[in-house]
Amino acid sequence: MTRRKIIITRRLPPAVEERAVRDYDAILNEKDRIIPMDELLAMADGMDALLICSSEKFNAAALARLPQSVKILSTFSVGLDHIDVPAAKARGVRVGNTPDAVTIATAEIAMLCMLGATRRAWEGQKMVRDRQWVGWHSTQLLGRRLSNKKLGIFGMGKIGQAVAKRARAFDMEIHYHNRHRLTPQEEQGAIYHDSLNSLLSVSNVLSINSPSTPETQGMLNAAAIAKMPDGAIVVNTARGDLVVDEDLIAALKSGKIAYAGLDVYRGEPRINEGYYDLPNTFLLPHMGSGTVEARDEMGFAALDNIDAVLAGREPPYPVV
Ligand code: 8YV
Repeated sequence: MTRRKIIITRRLPPAVEERAVRDYDAILNEKDRIIPMDELLAMADGMDALLICSSEKFNAAALARLPQSVKILSTFSVGLDHIDVPAAKARGVRVGNTPDAVTIATAEIAMLCMLGATRRAWEGQKMVRDRQWVGWHSTQLLGRRLSNKKLGIFGMGKIGQAVAKRARAFDMEIHYHNRHRLTPQEEQGAIYHDSLNSLLSVSNVLSINSPSTPETQGMLNAAAIAKMPDGAIVVNTARGDLVVDEDLIAALKSGKIAYAGLDVYRGEPRINEGYYDLPNTFLLPHMGSGTVEARDEMGFAALDNIDAVLAGREPPYPVV
């Protein structure tokens, strides 16, 4: 039987690529260059599946030109903002993602951002590395403890719930806003707010864990920030475009927001210039799912989606 053909658009972990070349005629991207869309679409002619990453932007125009041979776009991500999902549905190509694989790693990075922000980790690192640490004193780099603080989680899906679970171990009181209220079993005592404003008004720490959609984009703007307690902390490990950068930067400068721990940014990797010089920011380069375990699981889940569709079965993680 002829082997099915797939393209893996970016370099993936060795175990994932090994499985792909074992099971398919797989075109790999050894140099890990970002393949321009015109070139990728030309390469896709005659391919059965594409395993893509968030660097490949499948908008409606690209999907209209996707060769008919391609049966599934399997994305190595939970996020879908690089794919026009309704256009994919209209084109009749299946889309699959990796919703479970990223949960733990992303929740852990949210805790890192939370602690990095509340305990002023970047300033501490900088002091040591710049050889500016002259010794102990009692008021050096004082932060705030998480214990007994109210954590507001915006977006209580798998990742939001995993953040809540970890924050409970830090004795935080969990509040959340979500499109739908969770079951008591899922809530585990978390307090539901039926509006964003209500959540913001109690959030000593706000953790953004919602996907980017037209409804959520720009949710953290000046008006929203004004509703938060003075000196609150903002953590974003979801998508940069949920935050209006200019408004958050102004609030970080005024002290209305004491500190921000950010892993994602609008326009990344070229982030708003205003963040670079702010001492009260703990900044990471979109590394939320960057663990060995998560990357392998993401790759295997993406291949599971392809295996199923090419075998005429329902993919385990279907989007459309
Ligand atoms: C990925 C992510 O690193 O899964 C997502 O949506 O944001 C990250 O885990 C990235 O998108 C890889 O495609």
